[in-house]
Amino acid sequence: PHKTIKKICCIGAGYVGGPTCAVIAEKNPDIIVTIVDINPTRIAAWNSDTLPIYEPGLDKIVKGCRGRNLFFSTDVDKGIIEADLIFVSVNTPTKKKGVGAGYAADLGYVESATRHIARVAQSDKIVVEKSTVPCRTAHSMRYILEANARPGIHFDILSNPEFLAEGTAVPDLMRPDRVLIGSLDTLAGRAAAASLADIYASWVPRGQIIAMNLWSSELSKLAANALLAQRISSINALSAICEATGADVDEVSYACGLDTRIGSKFLKASVGFGGSCFQKDILNLVYLSESLHLPEVAAYWRQVVEMNEYQKRRFTDRVISSLFNTLTGKKIAILGFAFKKDTGDTRESPAITLVNYFRAERANISIYDPKVEDSQIWMDLTEPGVVDDLAELQKQVSIATNAYSACDDADAVVICTEWDEFRDTYLDYGRIYENMKKPAFVFDGRLILDRNRLEGMGFRVETIGRAA
Ligand code: NAD
Ligand code: UGA
Repeated sequence: PHKTIKKICCIGAGYVGGPTCAVIAEKNPDIIVTIVDINPTRIAAWNSDTLPIYEPGLDKIVKGCRGRNLFFSTDVDKGIIEADLIFVSVNTPTKKKGVGAGYAADLGYVESATRHIARVAQSDKIVVEKSTVPCRTAHSMRYILEANARPGIHFDILSNPEFLAEGTAVPDLMRPDRVLIGSLDTLAGRAAAASLADIYASWVPRGQIIAMNLWSSELSKLAANALLAQRISSINALSAICEATGADVDEVSYACGLDTRIGSKFLKASVGFGGSCFQKDILNLVYLSESLHLPEVAAYWRQVVEMNEYQKRRFTDRVISSLFNTLTGKKIAILGFAFKKDTGDTRESPAITLVNYFRAERANISIYDPKVEDSQIWMDLTEPGVVDDLAELQKQVSIATNAYSACDDADAVVICTEWDEFRDTYLDYGRIYENMKKPAFVFDGRLILDRNRLEGMGFRVETIGRAA
């Protein structure tokens, strides 16, 4: 016997909370879903015509359910009080200060949301960890809830990590490979897990909804991200060997990927992985390993991040050496600022690191991205709180409104994001070539260009994972 959920509250209206709960609302028209956030600007955007995040397919879902059984609100108290089940989907960034700085997850937002639940809840709740957290966080959450609960109120804690990727959030949520539900192995824990499973079962086959213990579920999330990032670092490490030997990384990746034991996904060499989670979650795993006195394990995972830093540095060095060892006063066009295509998100984008390296070489930089807001680019390239920074930055960096103007008069074009519109089948590279300084260089950090075709036009093309 388990409870049927009628009202859901999601704390945190971000890249995960928004799309996840919008899909839950669409697939469960009988459940009222309220997404709450302490950030009023974000909530206002969710309630407007222009949603705060860009995800293909999301607009239609949100606009179809909003006001019917999907609501966005800043009233966190009310959201909590009314709900039977609460997703905690707040940010868990890497700690900047204090113990574990640079590695450990900052659980301040999770704790504050948990305390908020304990403070205002007037009835039993199922509390679901949706945020990515270190293994055993559910234990702390339960402790906080129980220590602060009103008399007679019972909380069950579940772990239900999210595996969506940005840019494909909607299809990932519609057809997930699996849904994990971790619970305590008690009668109450299993009943809570069954209540949550029913919500997903509205559209996910039961066989793909996997019940397991809480700690396995929490760790599986960190493990999955670490394994995915490890594949990228592995192929990027091989790309360096390719460049030095004449092997072609796309061919090596294809050849290896045909082995069904290896598989073809996540073996695309690149200028380096970005995004809000890979680095953060691996560092979190490194910290966890160190706290468990497992230094060899920590070193193993840390190397995945180090290889990623090396890849960005190596690519920059290739640009500098190709451009006759100096970038001073040269114009570099950066195509793409988002961390991957089909998103406006720039968190940990390799483009940020590259622009900073090029700035240090005193290059002039022009940036174009089809989805990233100008204000975001300025924010990413300045230090918070440094007043003169922006004026200094704008002497060296400009933002273009299209790819052609970014490339006008440039010495080199650097592809940082694999947007389809940067492919040579879309963009008129002949026109770009005409308006560039000569020799005209293209550095393909995403392996999206037909090198022979561009060389035929007169470009000198340098591609990750291919010899010059
Ligand atoms: P985000 O920063 O986009 O959103 C988090 C939101 O939580 C913010 O809007 C913030 O204002 C709000 N918030 C923080 N504390 C709050 C509180 N006490 N009460 C109410 N609102 C509060 O973060 P995100 O990208 O959605 O990530 C959320 C979690 O999901 C992280 O742990 C992340 O690791 C994980 N995750 C992210 C992705 C992804 O693709 N971005 C995928 C899977 C998992
Ligand atoms: C990643 C995971 O794929 C999701 O399953 C997970 O839920 C999410 O992290 C998270 O926890 O936040 P995301 O970061 O949104 O999703 O995007 P990915 O498609 O994984 O790409 C991450 C980075 O790796 C991007 O910069 C991308 O360009 C790069 N990448 C990806 C490569 O360089 N090569 C590849 O083969 C694949």
